[in-house]
Amino acid sequence: MDCHDSNTQVEQIFLSGPVLSARIADLAEQIKAAYAATDRVIVLVLLNGAKRFTDELFRRINDRKFQLRYLTVRSYSGARPGANITIAGDITDVAGQEVLIADDIYDTGLTLSEAMQKVEQSRPLRIRTCCLLEKQTRHKKKIAIDFKAATVPDCFVVGYGLDYNGRYRDLPFIAELNLPSL
Ligand code: IMP
Ligand code: MG
Repeated sequence: MDCHDSNTQVEQIFLSGPVLSARIADLAEQIKAAYAATDRVIVLVLLNGAKRFTDELFRRINDRKFQLRYLTVRSYSGARPGANITIAGDITDVAGQEVLIADDIYDTGLTLSEAMQKVEQSRPLRIRTCCLLEKQTRHKKKIAIDFKAATVPDCFVVGYGLDYNGRYRDLPFIAELNLPSL
């Protein structure tokens, strides 16, 4: 596998494929238990990063009460933190429902915070959050992550759905990416 290009290089592997699979299996059990008494859960998957791990997670959970919806996240440059993120997708039917928002990584927290604000406008019963990874950094928005597979150090990571400019998403592990110096 070619993990190199002229500017970037995949460095240390933090989570191997087998470790990720085991963590996701564990997450599946936690989520099943947390929603054991619930008939319907609307899962809002933030594209593109969360697609890969939620595919595996909900294949393991294998319960049709979890209804997956996909939301598109776009970032624009803007002055106010969070004002530069828009989340698109139909969430009109979340009123009165249990909602689980899934993202790939909790970094600054701005994306999840924006997603939660958008969903709250539709008056769900409750919102919980699920992330493959939490970055050990000073989050700009503090979010309670209800379900999380692993934490990673404060660096740029790729693989398992996480990309750098559309690349490296397909790597079967999570690794640090050495970014070109600015
Ligand atoms: P936040 O809004 O800063 O919490 O970051 C959320 C989004 O930023 C994630 O959905 C990722 O798309 C992206 N992101 C943050 N850190 C990384 C990283 O280390 N690698 C790849 N994408 C990242
Ligand atoms: Mg993303």
